[in-house]
Amino acid sequence: ESTLGRAAAQSGRYFGTAIASGRLNDSTYTTIAAREFTSVTAENEMKIDATQPQQGRFDFTAADRVHNWAVQNGKQVRGHTLAWHSQQPAWMQSLSGSALRQAMINHINGVMAHYKGKIAQWDVVNEAFADGPSGARRDSNLQRTGNDWIEVAFRAARAADPAAKLCYNDYNVENWTWAKTQAMYAMVRDFKQRGVPIDCVGFQAHFNSDSPYNSNFRTTLQNFAALGVDVAITELDIQGASATTYANVTNDCLAVPRCLGITVWGVRDTDSWRPQHSPLLFNGDGSKKPAYTSVLNAL
Ligand code: XIL
Repeated sequence: ESTLGRAAAQSGRYFGTAIASGRLNDSTYTTIAAREFTSVTAENEMKIDATQPQQGRFDFTAADRVHNWAVQNGKQVRGHTLAWHSQQPAWMQSLSGSALRQAMINHINGVMAHYKGKIAQWDVVNEAFADGPSGARRDSNLQRTGNDWIEVAFRAARAADPAAKLCYNDYNVENWTWAKTQAMYAMVRDFKQRGVPIDCVGFQAHFNSDSPYNSNFRTTLQNFAALGVDVAITELDIQGASATTYANVTNDCLAVPRCLGITVWGVRDTDSWRPQHSPLLFNGDGSKKPAYTSVLNAL
């Protein structure tokens, strides 16, 4: 009887989950999480509103709870996330221009200093591209500080913790034919050409009826890897949790040498941000779903 983490390790990869600090006193939850997974992402606790609730006052209480649990249980940590339009504290939402630009840099410096040397991968920038056919950047207060905000974030991050792999992370970028995927590809290619420090691209992989899995996901992973970055599946959940689709996604990662690992976005369906989709690998009672066995067999 193996586990997801042990099976993934056979090919040098991790198998991770999002962890919510509020569930760490639920023993069914922690038993599964400790047993099955080798990487942890804080579901909300390392976000901007949680780590800098007031400008200049950092609070790592909840983030450290998740990080300490991970370390005590022998897991690596993906840091999520430093620069994002969402889950910004009110003080940041009200900033613009050079004040916001400097606040973004200060935030990156403050959080990365706290975790220096203790985070395997950081999602430095999250969800900066628009959905739909435009291929444009998403409009946001950060974007309005200037198109160079993403590379500024990555340069600050490299200086703050040179040991961490620095990732750009987004959703609806799994399908190679989508304009958003092509826009992200053009940005990463440009960063690599100009020496902007980027190490990895995270594909959230929230698959549902609006954004279904497509077998060209493997092509996407291969094409990004060919630019000279690692790739990772960072927030996997699949509406309905088809065992076949879970196996396909797993095989897509395994087919790409630079695919570092897979993270599912929660433990049980009842822990999911979309519980009505029943998108995860464990039932609410902690039992394994068919998708679990399918992933384990694919690994
Ligand atoms: C979600 C969390 O799962 C929820 O608990 C929270 O209310 C909203 O954020 N993309 C991301 C994640 O990068 O941070 C999001 O997590 C899901 C979509």
